[in-house]
This record gives sequence, structure tokens and C-alpha cells, in this order.
Amino acid sequence: MHLLIPAAGMGRRMGSNRNKLLLSLLDRPLIAWTLEAADASREIHWIGLIGQPEDWPDFEAILAANPLSKPVQFIQGGSTRQESVYNGLQGLPPEATHVLIHDGARCLATPDLFDRCAESLRHCPGLIAAIPVKDTIKIVARDSQTIEQTPDREQLWAAQTPQGFNVALLKQCHDRGKSLGWEVTDDAALFEKCDLPVQIVPGEETNLKVTTPMDLAIAEFILRQQRPELK
Ligand code: CTP
Ligand code: MG
Repeated sequence: MHLLIPAAGMGRRMGSNRNKLLLSLLDRPLIAWTLEAADASREIHWIGLIGQPEDWPDFEAILAANPLSKPVQFIQGGSTRQESVYNGLQGLPPEATHVLIHDGARCLATPDLFDRCAESLRHCPGLIAAIPVKDTIKIVARDSQTIEQTPDREQLWAAQTPQGFNVALLKQCHDRGKSLGWEVTDDAALFEKCDLPVQIVPGEETNLKVTTPMDLAIAEFILRQQRPELK
């Protein structure tokens, strides 16, 4: 299974002046944890690391300090996650029929989650890891800040990554999205807009996307639980 890791963001909400994936989490950069989990997955055999060229020297140094057993290909990122994944899809080797896409910022995903997603992708054209939401979610009017609706929580799931797809179909969805100007925050949304089915795979509560400084502190806490040897 081929894996694309979008890692080309700016980390604006983290409030740091560099890509948040280069920030330290315990004893190594955040992205090193993501790469290590992908490397430990039985199913993944090739990793496409999508980054901004200015970060490549740092990525090289991280891979030199934390060597992987699988080939890693650098792919140039775009100005949005959607563009970065688009570039990633063009950078896949021709034999790639199915792909997992996993945010570099989700550095706590376990190898088991990658493996379960890869296995499920043998039986459906598209899937995402997701967990049931715990909060009651409100739909609020943009202008008046009053509640319009309270969707049934039974039907609400929080989307995570990995997300997995048939490559040919996802490329078609990205091409259509590009020509029609769709702006989405994940790849499943492109699949949905093309009326293609997307299956849910049970995600992990600990698989948070490190977005703000508080997330970094929580990630450190979780990592210490997962890796008692690092205490
Ligand atoms: N990403 C990417 N290319 C972009 C923007 C984001 O590859 N142009 C990646 C990020 O590196 C991250 C993942 O997509 O691994 C999810 O994005 P997000 O958490 O929003 O990260 P940033 O865009 O870096 O953060 P922010 O939105 O706060 O600037
Ligand atoms: Mg972003």
C-alpha cells in the first residue's frame, strides 16, 4: 500500500514561525512520530512525504536521524492541503492502485490503524477513519449567531486520517474539483461530491490532529502513556 503524508502546511494556528511538524514533541520533531508509525505498519511499503521545498533539508535531517525501512519520496506541496494532495497523487508511482492519505499533523495514529484502513480498502473504493462525536453539535447561522439546527448526534462522526481511496477514482474527483473550483478540507469530501461511497473505519480517540499549542501539550501527555519507556 502506498501512503501520502501531507506535511506542507504553515501551522498558522500553532502560532509558531515555522511548519508545526518541525516542532519538538518529547525527544524528536513531530513529523518523526508520524513517519515512525507509518514505517511500523505492515501494509505500507512506500511513503510520499509532501512538503514545501524550504522544509526539505529539515525533513532530510529527520530521516537521517530516524532512518526508515521503507522508501520515502519527497513531493512538492501546494498552497492548500487539497493542492498538496493533488500534487501527491501525481507523484505516486504508476503501479499504485490504492492510496492511504494521512496528515503529518496526526502523529499519534498507531500502525494498527494504518493496517486496518489498508485492509478495509481492499473491499471499498473510499474510506476514512472516524470516531463518534462526544459533544452535541449545533449548526449556527453565519450572520445572526443563532442556532439553526441540532443534528442527531447518533449520525455525527469526527473525521480523521488515514483516508484511503482507489487512486484512479480519487484523481478523477480531484480533477473535477479543480475545474469546478470546489474547496474542501479532506479528500472524502471530494469523493462525496462525486456521489462515490466513503466507508467509515473506527478511528482512535488518541489520533488527534495537532493544531494548537494545547494540542501539542495533550499529544505529549498521550505519547508518554503510549510509550512508558520515554518517561
Ligand atoms: N497541509 C499541506 N499543505 C498545505 C496545508 C496543509 O500538506 N498547503 C498539511 C499539514 O502539513 C497537515 C495537514 O495538511 O499535516 C492538515 O493541515 P492543518 O492541520 O490545517 O495544518 P496547517 O495547515 O499547517 O495548519 P494551519 O491551518 O493552522 O495553518
Ligand atoms: Mg491548514
